[in-house]
Amino acid sequence: MVKLANRMTKFSGDDLADILRYSLDPSVISFSMGSPARELYPVDAIREIVDEVLANDSQRSLSYGSTDGWQPLKKAYLEHVAKPKGVIASEDEVVVTTGSTQGVDLLTQILIDPGDCILVESPTYLNTISVFKKYEAKLVSVEMDDEGIIISDLEEKIKLHKPKMLYTIPTFQNPSGKTLLVERRKMIADLASKYDMIVLEDDPYCDLRYRGNSVPPIKTFDKTGHVVLANSFSKTIAPGLRVGTMVGSKEIIDAIILAKGISDTNTPILVQAICSGFLERGLLPDHLESMVPLYLERLDAMLEGIRKYFPAEIKYTVPEGGLFVWVDLPDTVNTRTLLKKAAEEYKVSYVPGSAFCVDEEDGIHSIRLNFSANNAEKIDEGLKRLGELLTKELNG
Ligand SMILES: Cc1ncc(COP(=O)(O)O)c(C=O)c1O
Repeated sequence: MVKLANRMTKFSGDDLADILRYSLDPSVISFSMGSPARELYPVDAIREIVDEVLANDSQRSLSYGSTDGWQPLKKAYLEHVAKPKGVIASEDEVVVTTGSTQGVDLLTQILIDPGDCILVESPTYLNTISVFKKYEAKLVSVEMDDEGIIISDLEEKIKLHKPKMLYTIPTFQNPSGKTLLVERRKMIADLASKYDMIVLEDDPYCDLRYRGNSVPPIKTFDKTGHVVLANSFSKTIAPGLRVGTMVGSKEIIDAIILAKGISDTNTPILVQAICSGFLERGLLPDHLESMVPLYLERLDAMLEGIRKYFPAEIKYTVPEGGLFVWVDLPDTVNTRTLLKKAAEEYKVSYVPGSAFCVDEEDGIHSIRLNFSANNAEKIDEGLKRLGELLTKELNG
């Protein structure tokens, strides 16, 4: 038996293994995974870009590259992704990462000593909870309402815990689908300056908007270099490319580059060149637009199915974009223990809310449902099954 390092004892893979197993079972309708719709990957455009890169720049694109990122991608990101959102930065304030997951890991690595406090939303992205645990942070959750983080609770917890960092997913949050109000975004930037706290703004879903108007990132209100914005091409081009970006003060970005060099030298140039080629050709806006009808149809099928089949006592979010809907069930339903029955008897799966909460009891009556991965018909059928189970549970 291998004796693993102590840090591995903080993670139990059991729950996640069950979730993965159920979602891979073809007889189960799975609302568990967070992937974009695979049929939307821009395969033809990627093929053309790869052909061109290999024809014109094969040696550079297959070599080691500079740790901070492929310069054409940094330039194209700033021009085509950051600037339209009002984020103005220079190339030395950007680093390209191997997915935004790596960015979250590296920022935590350079900032957090064991015992340092990080404030997180409740609920929040489960993978990031694990990253923070790996670095032995003390995690404190901040309350949210329908418009995101509650500012009075945030300020109270800043004063009490003196956190080094706040982690927020402000737009179409994973898992809740909620979007933080513009006014609160400004307040968070102001609080970060006032209390000298770093804000990690993890915003991979902001471009997946199907209704309503876009909202400026917290980073646009940052006057003192306290906000670090993480974006990703996983949901807008394809997750398998593993390309993300971080924008922050030069001091923070330099430290991230140092840590990244130690970790993986550089993100592969070929995948960075795919992303820069995609942006330089001006393909992103039309591609995002082309995704809207399919995602909107699936989102609406999910909202309709919840209304039709779920018991009346539930509460659910109505997002304008992203990939997830969050459902709060009455206190008598334990969604963690119910998952086995849902998957094995009713052939439908979800992620129990407890997986997204620092204090697991917080999410025990909730579920996250993904609407991007199934067509409208399957969504309807899956929710019918789940609704039947929930109704039975509630009626004893
Ligand atoms: C909030 C959040 N951050 C980061 C990621 C991961 O992004 P990437 O594929 O760029 O590592 C996800 C993916 O599901 C996410 O939901």
